[in-house]
Amino acid sequence: MKFFIDTANLDQIKEAQSLGILDGVTTNPSLMAKEGITGQDNIIAHYKAICDIVEGDVSAEVIATDFEGMIAEGEALAALHPQIVVKIPMILEGIKAIKYFSDKGIKTNCTLVFSSGQALLAAKAGATYVSPFIGRLDDVSTDGLQLIEDIRNIYDNYDYTTEILAASVRHTMHVIDCAHIGADVMTGPLSAIVGLAKHPLTDIGLAKFLADHKKGN
Ligand code: E4P
Repeated sequence: MKFFIDTANLDQIKEAQSLGILDGVTTNPSLMAKEGITGQDNIIAHYKAICDIVEGDVSAEVIATDFEGMIAEGEALAALHPQIVVKIPMILEGIKAIKYFSDKGIKTNCTLVFSSGQALLAAKAGATYVSPFIGRLDDVSTDGLQLIEDIRNIYDNYDYTTEILAASVRHTMHVIDCAHIGADVMTGPLSAIVGLAKHPLTDIGLAKFLADHKKGN
């Protein structure tokens, strides 16, 4: 499973990259605003800075909601750096835009997906990634992981190549459950990635090994 970090915070991206297990980055307008990145020039410079840190795909979201606007914005974003993936919302105009970019060989990430029907449309349009938001479904008492399982089944039935990018991951169990189901990618906060390393028995065992080593030297 690929690990993406879901943030626009450069320090956190650097920290995840330094582990050597980071495969990419997802951002969205809210994450950019959270870091105080506003204005088109700053946003573009920030995407470039992220691409300089990581080696994998970096999702950059369009703001337009009409086909022509999404095409114009998406083409400009894709031209910024070969690692940029154009992130497009799951609306009918977005489906048209995904098909357009797919025909041109430009990578896309279909975002704000909350149902398997939406995921089917994204795959048919040729999206590189589909982003079901599992945490936000859990927030409204709906099983986000069940959606990942449903999409996995549908895509496997027809050998769709669209990668399932489990998004809105909130904690380590989401990551593990997504891996069980067979999500291709997960994107989550740094805490959900580094949290996977934690186990009290590891800490206790290491402390004992070091103490015993000290005794013998
Ligand atoms: C996906 O690409 C989104 O940026 C993200 O995962 C949304 O997560 P949230 O529900 O924690 O905001």
